[in-house]
Amino acid sequence: MAQGLGFRGDVVDYYHRYRRGYPTAVIDALVAAFALTRDDIVVDLGCGTGQLATPIAQRVRAVVGVDPEPDMLTRARSAAAERGVTNATWMIGTDADLPALGGLLGAGTVGAVTIGQALHWMRPDELFPALFPLLRTGGGVAVVTNGTPLWLQHTDWSRALRGWLEAWLDKDLGYACGTDPDSQLRYRQALTKTGFDVREQHVEYAADLDLEQLVGSVYSALPVDQLPPPQRRAQFAEQIRHALSPDDRFTEQVRVTMLLGSKA
Ligand SMILES: C[S@@+](CC[C@H](N)C(=O)[O-])C[C@H]1O[C@@H](n2cnc3c(N)ncnc32)[C@H](O)[C@@H]1O
Repeated sequence: MAQGLGFRGDVVDYYHRYRRGYPTAVIDALVAAFALTRDDIVVDLGCGTGQLATPIAQRVRAVVGVDPEPDMLTRARSAAAERGVTNATWMIGTDADLPALGGLLGAGTVGAVTIGQALHWMRPDELFPALFPLLRTGGGVAVVTNGTPLWLQHTDWSRALRGWLEAWLDKDLGYACGTDPDSQLRYRQALTKTGFDVREQHVEYAADLDLEQLVGSVYSALPVDQLPPPQRRAQFAEQIRHALSPDDRFTEQVRVTMLLGSKA
């Protein structure tokens, strides 16, 4: 079991409140890619607070959201209930628990396994062969990324944010969490090697953030032990505002990438 990833405590609140969800066009594309219906079961690995799992649950028979972080699952569960979603089950576990989950569900029973912005925590070369037998014919696996980290975008404010965060954390922030071309190629190769027919789809949109949303989104990406203490957060936000000045609205060009591996 992966422990200590830091998706706990206040980070969960920031994640739920400020992390981008997925536009309806992404859910539509996933439903269409695997011809998902009200008869299907979907497993969402690395479900977080339910950004993918909850809207997908509204389109299928049942979703199993899997995540190693109990606080993320607790929030996913309450957020789904607030939206009237009652067909999602929230399971503590990791990608390594897929074979056990497969034993419960049985071969050929799953319409799709979705992995939203989480494969960089997993072992694709072991995971994809483990999940292949669970999928029904025409079903598949979707590896979804939700844009690039806020500090790695091609804008002046993003470069300024990276500079400020690197100085504050005293570390390089070049790691793109699986959104970079090398990682995407590696994921695609692992899917192909497993026997999936792979194609790629994108959904692009612009998102406009204010300072509160930008700082909240930064907090959502920090391990909980690196969050500034509550009494210092106003000062932290002010320092970011100063570093990014004169910008005070921050437009992101978000490109959602879906690597879609279908089982023929
Ligand atoms: C960046 S969040 C993504 C949440 C959500 N899927 C989304 O698209 O916004 C990554 C999630 O993956 C979970 N995670 C980390 N390692 C994992 C693993 N080995 N197996 C399953 N989930 C994992 C984390 O706890 C976290 O909730």
